[in-house]
Amino acid sequence: MIFKEKKVLLRNGQTVILKSPSEDDWERMIDYIKCVSAETPYILRTPEECKDTEESEKAFIKHYAESECECMIAVFDGDKVVGNCNLNVKNRKKVRHRAELGIGLRKSHYRLGIGTMLITELSIIARNAGCTQFELTYVDGNCRAKGLYEKCGFVEVGRMPCGVRFEDGTYADDVFMRKVL
Ligand SMILES: CC(C)(COP(=O)(O)OP(=O)(O)OC[C@H]1O[C@@H](n2cnc3c(N)ncnc32)[C@H](O)[C@@H]1OP(=O)(O)O)[C@@H](O)C(=O)NCCC(=O)NCCS
Repeated sequence: MIFKEKKVLLRNGQTVILKSPSEDDWERMIDYIKCVSAETPYILRTPEECKDTEESEKAFIKHYAESECECMIAVFDGDKVVGNCNLNVKNRKKVRHRAELGIGLRKSHYRLGIGTMLITELSIIARNAGCTQFELTYVDGNCRAKGLYEKCGFVEVGRMPCGVRFEDGTYADDVFMRKVL
């Protein structure tokens, strides 16, 4: 599904564009994920695991563009991708009412309300796709993510103890959240 370009004004007076990336944006998208994976320990990919190629990234973008209900929205600040989110819907009939989301921003764009805007847009798309609940996980200790999700109406429903092991050998729980759409 393609999310049509939307210009939004941020609380610092800056303007960014929300839109589904096109295949031509493949390099910008790779640059973005490499940056975010290095800036935060709270996404699962490490910088060494960002091995995307032109071909794989274009295929990833195409998958979302052609999907009937799954969607990817990137945040463009000028020519640069500064954020991204994905909406995935479970495939089997009995679980097709369950949408999942993933979200990330470059550090330079935290705390400007972009996370809230993206979740608001994805909630509308998920509801229109017939989903009745939205699900996500975050790594315990990720206070920004917890704050954003609680503000958007998500509630903790469980935990996987020691779901994540950091490079220094310490562990954190994986926290599961749900929101009724
Ligand atoms: C998590 C993330 C997406 C939040 O996005 P954001 O655009 O900064 O969030 P918003 O500006 O919309 O803030 C939403 C709410 O979260 C809460 N919040 C934000 N930062 C917070 C912090 N440091 N501590 C506690 N709550 C916080 C506030 O309630 C805020 O609402 P307010 O600004 O109206 O007070 C962003 O920090 C990020 O990309 N982090 C790195 C990647 C990541 O962790 N992704 C999530 C993986 S599960």
